[in-house]
Amino acid sequence: TPVEPPAALKLGFESLPTSMTDGCVVPNGYVAHVFAPWGTPLNDNAMAWDQNGNNSSNDLLNAMGMHHDGMHFFPIEGSSTEGLLAINHEYIDENALHPNGPTRVAGKRPAEEVRKEINAHGVAIVHVRRENGSWTIVNNSRYNRRFTSATAMKLAGPVGGTDWVKTPFSPNGAQVRGTNNNCGNGYTPWGTYITAEENWAACFVNTGTRPAHQRRVGVSAGPAGRYQWETAALDPSEVLGEFARFNVTETGVDATQDWRNEVNGFGYLVEIDPYDPTSIATKRTAMGRFAHEGCAYSKPEAGKPLAFYSGDDSRFEYIYRFVSEAVWDPKDAERTDRLAVGAKYLDRGTLYVARFNADGTGEWLALTGTTTGTGGRTLADEFGSLDAILINTRGAADFVGATPMDRPEWTATHPTNGDIYLTLTNNSSRNATTGTNAPNPRLNNVNGHIVRWHDEAGSTKFEWDIFVFGSDAGADADTNRSGLTTLNQLASPDGLGFDTRGILWIQTDNGIDGGRNNNVARATNDQMLAVIPGSLADSTGTGPAINASNQADLRRFFVGPNEAEVTGFAFTPDYTSIFLNIQHPVNWPAYGTDDATTSATGTVRPRSSTVVIQRADGGPIGV
Ligand code: FEO
Ligand code: CA
Ligand code: CA
Ligand code: CA
Repeated sequence: TPVEPPAALKLGFESLPTSMTDGCVVPNGYVAHVFAPWGTPLNDNAMAWDQNGNNSSNDLLNAMGMHHDGMHFFPIEGSSTEGLLAINHEYIDENALHPNGPTRVAGKRPAEEVRKEINAHGVAIVHVRRENGSWTIVNNSRYNRRFTSATAMKLAGPVGGTDWVKTPFSPNGAQVRGTNNNCGNGYTPWGTYITAEENWAACFVNTGTRPAHQRRVGVSAGPAGRYQWETAALDPSEVLGEFARFNVTETGVDATQDWRNEVNGFGYLVEIDPYDPTSIATKRTAMGRFAHEGCAYSKPEAGKPLAFYSGDDSRFEYIYRFVSEAVWDPKDAERTDRLAVGAKYLDRGTLYVARFNADGTGEWLALTGTTTGTGGRTLADEFGSLDAILINTRGAADFVGATPMDRPEWTATHPTNGDIYLTLTNNSSRNATTGTNAPNPRLNNVNGHIVRWHDEAGSTKFEWDIFVFGSDAGADADTNRSGLTTLNQLASPDGLGFDTRGILWIQTDNGIDGGRNNNVARATNDQMLAVIPGSLADSTGTGPAINASNQADLRRFFVGPNEAEVTGFAFTPDYTSIFLNIQHPVNWPAYGTDDATTSATGTVRPRSSTVVIQRADGGPIGV
């Protein structure tokens, strides 16, 4: 029998109205402060952030990166007033990063600018402490770390050490430099952080003949990579192909300059032990290679395998599940050799991709050699060994007939009933030619929706439904299938997570820097909503999907500044503080204050930032 949230659990705030104000909006009785914006020093090796863009690459290596995204709070000895915040830095705003935007001289980027951009990406581990009610960074803490697109990392699992990943930097294929475009995140039951590499592929360029796996994942065909990092190659200061490695064209040069395999070291979930400042981040290749967006684990049960879920955020891509070979031993949650625990559960296991049936059931298709796909051939017949299947995960998923989805983003697991929720952010390319399918039933899906399912790690079957359809309140019934009103209309759900009380938090990313291209985005800035769902198994009773009669249970908790995405969140264990991230604002925050509710006057260099939200009375958030 599914366990329902305690009846006493209720949302304790009124749903906010829509907002087009250039500042954060929180419910009555709540306060919001700007915390750790881009460029904030983590130690004395970084100069203070310069509002004219003059910070160096070395400053960025010792300071908060740009475009905060997924994050998690790791308490120190269970504390709710001291812990380690792990924060993803997804990508960069080149115009804000440099004094006058990016420089190109004769088509080449200066090495120092490129190093600065590389260091603005990645992950920050930040030691934070609450003193007199206010959160501060513990400057110079031994825990403070930056992982950038140049930090050496291990390649573990089936791809590690193979010919796929041997480079002049790592002739045995055991390591790669950097993690890129870290978007959603996960964490594990044993206290590590997982950062998801999403839109890394376009940072690499192949001007020759791209192999099928590079085409399928979107490695740039040229003339240049996304940021033209490769054009800084041959700068006299270049260290062991630090820029050349972004050009993965086969050149026939000698092995010491052959970077064609560099790109195969990207596209993974990367495990970080925030508690051990000397630990090496480790890419878990068994969990697949694609545009990973987040990673949520199934509810752990002693003696059973663990399952981890990850979306692949691109139009018509798939939903994946990794099931560990090892069964869960709760004692592993207490071990301090956390990356060894990670190796136990994350390096050996089976990767699956989801096929949804129209009758509300579904099947996990194993991406292993024996699975049969197109023409009766097996994955081994088509791709070869497991490492080759994993390198071209998308191709393997195509081959076995997975269900193409409307841009799978974050996943979240209900803390007691184990249901899994996943945001399908939008897909304006779903049209008469592509057709719809049961879990993606709307054409021109500019609003997105959230799918949920229930499975057991030991089974390849699941049941599913659609939990909520994004829509503006004024849309017709076929679009507004969940009966949303102006108090909870939403579009482009993206960030997603349960807290351990059973509240589901939904964040939106309307990509409004590209134009307010749906009616919700024309009515409100991006937002964060909360709802306490029942279980899928009881979906005709207390756990139905959002519909016209229960929609008021879905409440708007937060609205962000103009043009900014609201993404990533973390709670302290006592729920008295919530951290969330504001990404790609255009004129926020205001200078000279940490008040998150206001923006700058005049035109300023905008700063992606964490926002910390507390209740004025110090009580728990949300209830
Ligand atoms: Fe970086 Fe899919 O959001
Ligand atoms: Ca996202
Ligand atoms: Ca998004
Ligand atoms: Ca983003």
